Amino acid sequence: MSHTPTQLELEASLPVPGAAELSGRFELHPNPNAASTTERQERMAKLRFGKDFSDHMAHMVWTKENGWHDRVIEAYGSLSLDPAGAVLHYGQEVFEGLKAYRHEDGSIWTFRPTYNAARLNYSSRRLAIPEMTHEDFLGSIVGLVQADHEWVPSAPGSSFYLRPFVFASDAFLGVSAASRYDYYVIASPSGAYFANGFAPINVWVEPTYHRAGPGGMGDAKTGGNYAASLLPKVVAHEQGYDEVLFLDAKSAMNLDELGGMNVFVLMSDGRVRTPALTGNILPGCTRSCIIQLLESEGVEVREETIPLAELIADFEAGRAVEMFACGTAAVVTAIGSLTGEDFHVDIPGHERTKEIYDLLTGIQLGKREDSYGWLYRLV
Ligand SMILES: Cc1ncc(COP(=O)(O)O)c(C=O)c1O
Repeated sequence: MSHTPTQLELEASLPVPGAAELSGRFELHPNPNAASTTERQERMAKLRFGKDFSDHMAHMVWTKENGWHDRVIEAYGSLSLDPAGAVLHYGQEVFEGLKAYRHEDGSIWTFRPTYNAARLNYSSRRLAIPEMTHEDFLGSIVGLVQADHEWVPSAPGSSFYLRPFVFASDAFLGVSAASRYDYYVIASPSGAYFANGFAPINVWVEPTYHRAGPGGMGDAKTGGNYAASLLPKVVAHEQGYDEVLFLDAKSAMNLDELGGMNVFVLMSDGRVRTPALTGNILPGCTRSCIIQLLESEGVEVREETIPLAELIADFEAGRAVEMFACGTAAVVTAIGSLTGEDFHVDIPGHERTKEIYDLLTGIQLGKREDSYGWLYRLV
């Protein structure tokens, strides 16, 4: 059976105004201390992931009286927050991650931003945070990238990583949904997410800790899920693993996802499997794109429960041949081995994974046909 569009995919396909129309929706207050050309070039000479930030940030505020208002692009800088600020105590916050890419002709594009707009609202609903219009979400991205277009890198594998986030900023220690929220977008000129390029990663399959459970917030992009993933990640790193694969919290038998990426398994008969969206895993934009691209090539993609024991047996018998993780930051990353308490599986092949990576990055960089209209021009 082919993929039935999710609510997020349907919302993401609603029409939105182009950048020309949204430009100026967030009023530009230029940073008086913006980096000089030399400073900027120095900071961009050695691109890392998420460590350097551009001159500006987008900001707007929500209050009960005025809804979302005070839309500005202002100087990037430290925030001032009351120590009783609700987010610091109860973690009421949601965020997104998307990228802007410089194409060969110098133009700047982002990729499926309406999916991120729809998912931010989806996450917001789960955390009792007010939603925003797609026009506000896109307007903030358009305004910020237009103000800081010189920070968008062009080196291979580089991008301008955009991080929108909303948090409860009430100064109140009662446990309740806040009455004031701040929305920001910050941006980071970034090199490749994994310093070793396309090198396959070694994954620890976590038997004890889970990132999210049934009825929790696993399908919302909110800090708490990432906080829950950090201790197992620290321990796995100490043991020499690159990433952690989490199992479902109910049975601890089935694959969920990595701490920040969805997973796919490629079978020897050409079929592709990925864990179904159970509510415990994040509905990844990259996951959604890969399902659509593979199905358009006639590949059978099964979104289903994947028991760990079955996966191990499939690799041992050669029925499963490749496995990869995917997400905006790293796009597609080959998994080179899976290790758990009582098993180890080496996964030597990555040819098809590399083809999927090339296909998706080719579309993002304007080198392959964008049949789905996923690219959105910013500058
Ligand atoms: C937990 C988790 N799963 C999956 C993904 C992949 O989502 P996307 O492809 O939208 O970046 C991410 C990254 O955002 C994530 O944090």
